[in-house]
Amino acid sequence: MTVKGLINGIRIIVESDPDAASRTAAELIARQIAEKTDCVLGLATGGTPVQTYERLIQMNASGEVDFARVTTFNLDEYIGLDRQHSQSYRVFMNTHLFNHINIDLNRTFVPDGCAGDIPRHCAEYESMIQSAGGIDLQLLGLGHNGHIAFNEPGSPVNSRTRQVDLTAETIEKNARFFPTINDVPRHAITMGIATILEAKSILLLALGEAKSDAVDAMLQGPITQSHPASLLRNHNDVTVVLDEAAAGKTSVVDRSAISMD
Ligand code: F6R
Repeated sequence: MTVKGLINGIRIIVESDPDAASRTAAELIARQIAEKTDCVLGLATGGTPVQTYERLIQMNASGEVDFARVTTFNLDEYIGLDRQHSQSYRVFMNTHLFNHINIDLNRTFVPDGCAGDIPRHCAEYESMIQSAGGIDLQLLGLGHNGHIAFNEPGSPVNSRTRQVDLTAETIEKNARFFPTINDVPRHAITMGIATILEAKSILLLALGEAKSDAVDAMLQGPITQSHPASLLRNHNDVTVVLDEAAAGKTSVVDRSAISMD
């Protein structure tokens, strides 16, 4: 069953399980592409969007979505990993999405973690987003500590694409993708909060019980830089797609605002 509602100005869709939530996220992305075939998507990595990308690959194969004219910008990249490194976000995107759809790879952009002059590269990344006409739909995951992209708690609301230090918590969480925790890079390039909030629309996907506290704080806690995702409430077009486990208390707390399909 799909439960839909509005909490503090954010559209919420709660699906029963991760598979259904990922299908819904994929459909919202496909709808954006259908509305504007040359749209600009902002994309995320991590565990959360993997099933959404799988669904988009299926939809592309069956002709339900066409990436031929789509441009993409990824949120972030580890510093020190080159484009060929197995844990780089460029390889992640190629492996989980780009290599399996009809997108022009020259129109897929991921920050370069090995750029010689990082501040300059970050400024250029911002310019490239502007030149492409801005991001139409930004897909986000959610960190346990409320981070969005690699904007950790305390990230300024006016931050833009820049080099950041990863917190100990994020390094620990991401260690599952590396041989040992010592192999996890300590720094990254990330779009800033202001960069993300400039997207015309935002789609945040969160799955699993472990995200439920972060979801609750995002939707119903104070709007504060200490919980970066709460800053999304300053945007007027945000959709949050959850499975029941990630919705946790959220769907129960504000039932008055929730209608059912
Ligand atoms: C990845 C990103 C991160 C993740 C977040 C959740 O590009 O920007 O903010 O979305 O760390 O990660 P997962 O999905 O692995 O739980």
